Amino acid sequence: MTDLLVKLYDIQDEWTFMSEQRSLGIIVRKPIGPEKNIVVDWVKEQYGDDWASEADMAFANRPISCFVAIKKERLVGFACYDATALGFFGPTGVKENCRGRGTGKALLLACLLDMKLKGYGYAVIGGAGPVKFYKKTVGAIEIPGSTPGLYAAGFRREAK
Ligand SMILES: CC(C)(COP(=O)(O)OP(=O)(O)OC[C@H]1O[C@@H](n2cnc3c(N)ncnc32)[C@H](O)[C@@H]1OP(=O)(O)O)[C@@H](O)C(=O)NCCC(=O)NCCS
Repeated sequence: MTDLLVKLYDIQDEWTFMSEQRSLGIIVRKPIGPEKNIVVDWVKEQYGDDWASEADMAFANRPISCFVAIKKERLVGFACYDATALGFFGPTGVKENCRGRGTGKALLLACLLDMKLKGYGYAVIGGAGPVKFYKKTVGAIEIPGSTPGLYAAGFRREAK
């Protein structure tokens, strides 16, 4: 899986995706402290331990570098940045039965605009899975020679 680069300066400073999501009954916002365990547990249950660990890191940042999508008081998606490494977007995920309604793009844009406001010029999508999604939504381009990139240094829990 390759890393992608996004030009934050090319992303429009418009948050209209928030009201678009709201019209579908989906609230996109930053979680607050008391919601941390709920978010991290949900990410672990849906996507596994590594992503839960990264989500936890996003809560350690001030301000929190994570957005969530909520429908009927239940989590349906999340996205983080500055969680794997500074300047990196991810991980992110939308519950399977809630995909295809612009929520993944809204979470992505919320994070990228937040990064832009912080002063970043570029964002890296680390080890991108759905490359076409990132190319289509934010014009991401592949970074040559970035496989396995930062993740090459990773280590694993010992098998019991
Ligand atoms: C990737 C993911 C977050 C997209 O969420 P989503 O809510 O379904 O995406 P959206 O509805 O916002 O899609 C926005 C656009 O991207 C397109 N798109 C979505 N997923 C795509 C994919 N895998 N490949 C190509 N295009 C995709 C949609 O068709 C839509 O296009 P449109 O604007 O022309 O309608 C979701 O599929 C997911 O959770 N995947 C599993 C976790 C994962 O892979 N995370 C990324 C790790 S790097």
